[in-house]
This record gives sequence, structure tokens and C-alpha cells, in this order.
Amino acid sequence: MAESDFLILPERDEDHQLIQQILDAAFGLERRTKTAYRLREGSAPVAELCFTARLAGRLVGSIQYWPLIVGGASSALLLGPLAVDPGLQGKGCGLALMKHSLAKARHLGHALVILVGDAPYYARVGFARIPDGQMLMPGPVDADRFLALELRPGALAEARGLVLGDRGQAAGAPSRAVRVN
Ligand SMILES: CC(C)(COP(=O)(O)OP(=O)(O)OC[C@H]1O[C@@H](n2cnc3c(N)ncnc32)[C@H](O)[C@@H]1OP(=O)(O)O)[C@@H](O)C(=O)NCCC(=O)NCCS
Repeated sequence: MAESDFLILPERDEDHQLIQQILDAAFGLERRTKTAYRLREGSAPVAELCFTARLAGRLVGSIQYWPLIVGGASSALLLGPLAVDPGLQGKGCGLALMKHSLAKARHLGHALVILVGDAPYYARVGFARIPDGQMLMPGPVDADRFLALELRPGALAEARGLVLGDRGQAAGAPSRAVRVN
């Protein structure tokens, strides 16, 4: 099986329940307590960048992006959640979803994407660690998992300060990314 075997389609309203099931299966129910979720509260995902992956007509993967403001000035995207049906992981679905959506984000003129996730995996599409102290998150984040990808050269250096959702959400005290393990 290869990345090209997965059909990547825009997310539809009727996909919502299946996507929640895949997220619960991939991450567990405690996923909602994570700092990245605080940044999404009260916001809507960036609809044109939310995609599903299908195999033989079945929804098996999902990727979403959310709007952020860094330091009160720079727009950025939060990538996530990205999840693949546990029975189909490791077959190229996650990479297919990321490559497709990141190409679209670049095409639409987005400058910067950040996420909290496994660095060795996201490095495959160009994500790298955000320099220590450059951005503050509204809750605890492992510095080794706090990653960025520039879609426009120079965008990362410009993005400094507190990371908030596009409606200014910050449900917790600002926190530097720290090493937690
Ligand atoms: C993480 C996830 C989205 C990746 O999607 P996927 O379709 O399973 O992965 P892909 O098939 O696109 O990529 C597979 C490759 O990435 C590697 N890989 C997958 N997950 C990885 C991880 N968390 N860290 C490092 N490498 C990883 C695989 O070893 C594989 O490498 P290979 O090509 O050398 O064999 C998916 O496995 C998932 O939903 N996992 C559950 C949630 C989770 O663990 N998230 C942690 C990341 S934030």
C-alpha cells in the first residue's frame, strides 16, 4: 500500500462523527485536555484545509487546521489533530494527508504552520523545533514536540510571543515550552 492509494477529499459536515471516532481510537479520550485543544476553543477550523482520507470508500484518516495569532501580530496555522484509523497506520495515510493539505495551505498564501507532535514523524514534511523561548503557549508543552514549518521564508522569525486562537483564547497562564521528559 502507498500514499497514493488513499483518496484525499475535503471534509464534509457528515464526516464529523466518523472523524471523532478515529480521533478517540488514535489518541484516547484524554486528548481534549491537551494545550493544543485550548487554542481551538471557540474557534472554527480552517475549512478549506480540513481533509479526510478514504480507502475503498471508507473514512480512515483526518487532518484539520486551526487559525492562530502569534504575538498579537502574525497569523499562523495550528496543524492537528491528524489521526489515522489504528488498523491502517504506517501505510502512508498520514503523510498523504499532510502533503496534500500543506500544498493547499502554501497555495492559499499561509505563511507558517505550528503543531505539538512527534518530531521524527513531522520532520518528514519539513517541521523543525521552534527555538526555545520564541513562542509562549497557553499551557504546558514539551519543547521537543513544539514544531514549526515555514511556508513563506522568514515567517518563523517574525512569529514571536504568546500563541492564541484567532479569538484570543488563552484558557491558561502563558507558559514557555519546557522539556517534560
Ligand atoms: C501519527 C499518525 C498520524 C501517522 O500516520 P500514519 O498513516 O500511521 O503514518 P504514515 O504511514 O504516513 O508514515 C509512516 C512512517 O512514519 C513513521 N511514523 C509513524 N508515526 C510515527 C511517530 N509517531 N513518530 C515517528 N515516526 C512515525 C513510521 O514508522 C513510518 O516510517 P517508514 O515509512 O520508515 O516505515 C498515525 O499513526 C496516528 O494517528 N497515530 C495515533 C496518534 C499518535 O500517535 N500521534 C502521535 C503523533 S502527534
